[in-house]
Amino acid sequence: MDATALVPTRGAPAEQLLELLGLTRRELLHRGELVPPHWVDDGVEDLRSGRLVGWYVPPARALAFYSRRAHRAYGHVHVADPTDRRAWAVTLLSSLADQLPPEILRLDAGVTGLEEAEEEAFGRAMMSRPGSELVRRFAMSVGVADAPAPPNVDLPAAGLTPVSPASVAIELLQQLDARGFRGSVDASLLADTPAENARLLAELIGGTYGRFLAEASRVLVTGEGTPIAAILCAEQSSQTAIVLDAVVDPAWRRRGLGLYLFRWSLRALRALGYGSAQLWVTEANAPARALYDQLGFRPWTRSIIYRWRREAPVT
Ligand SMILES: CC(C)(COP(=O)(O)OP(=O)(O)OC[C@H]1O[C@@H](n2cnc3c(N)ncnc32)[C@H](O)[C@@H]1OP(=O)(O)O)[C@@H](O)C(=O)NCCC(=O)NCCS
Repeated sequence: MDATALVPTRGAPAEQLLELLGLTRRELLHRGELVPPHWVDDGVEDLRSGRLVGWYVPPARALAFYSRRAHRAYGHVHVADPTDRRAWAVTLLSSLADQLPPEILRLDAGVTGLEEAEEEAFGRAMMSRPGSELVRRFAMSVGVADAPAPPNVDLPAAGLTPVSPASVAIELLQQLDARGFRGSVDASLLADTPAENARLLAELIGGTYGRFLAEASRVLVTGEGTPIAAILCAEQSSQTAIVLDAVVDPAWRRRGLGLYLFRWSLRALRALGYGSAQLWVTEANAPARALYDQLGFRPWTRSIIYRWRREAPVT
């Protein structure tokens, strides 16, 4: 296998892209990612028209594509061909990175179709490329049937009120995310700009990534109306909900608010009829992992985000 086998997806036969995107979607759902409705049909259109840039290996053996926002690209590689999947993934992702326009300064990309050990080997192989980094993440889940009641946190005494996310201005939620994730290992997973992050939050609450579960999502606000903690959940399947954002303002940490919000949310999910809750956490996020461990979340799969940053030209 080599890069000469790759064919641009622009103008490619729709049925081959349909098959590849369908397989990618199935893998993403299988490992607990949220896939927006119409993702496959929209993707075929976008790849064929050039709105998404991509390459594939005919007939439907492997696919790589990226979308871009400002100076960042978000890529994905799926390998359907069972032979030498690791090598295919390396070839596809390397070509994708090689062909990024010069104004793109950073690429974040995921891969599907590989066994866990193959994905690890793929990540190690990609590290030989200067500017590379691997972000390792766990998918964790917990059953909600026996979710215990929230701990006894006296919110009124602390001057806090739990409210629905829809009643809080998106800009204030975005500022909470910015304060909460600043300097953390997960800060780099947020969007580049406050406006972009606010747009993602608005999409999340608007249901773009799956039905937003307002009944199981809460924001804690102070008497002045400043949000200082939040948990936001969406439906992943009829049985499973996913926590998409959980954050406590640094000035309010280690007072049990994270635990309170999660337990509250897990009880609400149980009442809504879900069987389990899931989330993704980066391996290096020790505080969050300790919290999730205490709540009974257990890892059930892992994945790698491959990150590449363009190095400043030597002058
Ligand atoms: C993770 C986070 C939400 C925890 O919020 P919190 O209100 O401080 O958590 P709590 O006070 O309820 O802590 C509950 C338990 O979590 C664990 N925990 C929380 N912070 C911890 C830390 N810094 N180090 C180790 N354990 C920690 C402990 O087991 C703690 O119980 P204890 O205080 O009895 O030891 C908060 O640190 C945060 O917002 N981090 C940045 C955003 C983030 O990473 N979100 C998760 C993305 S997946």
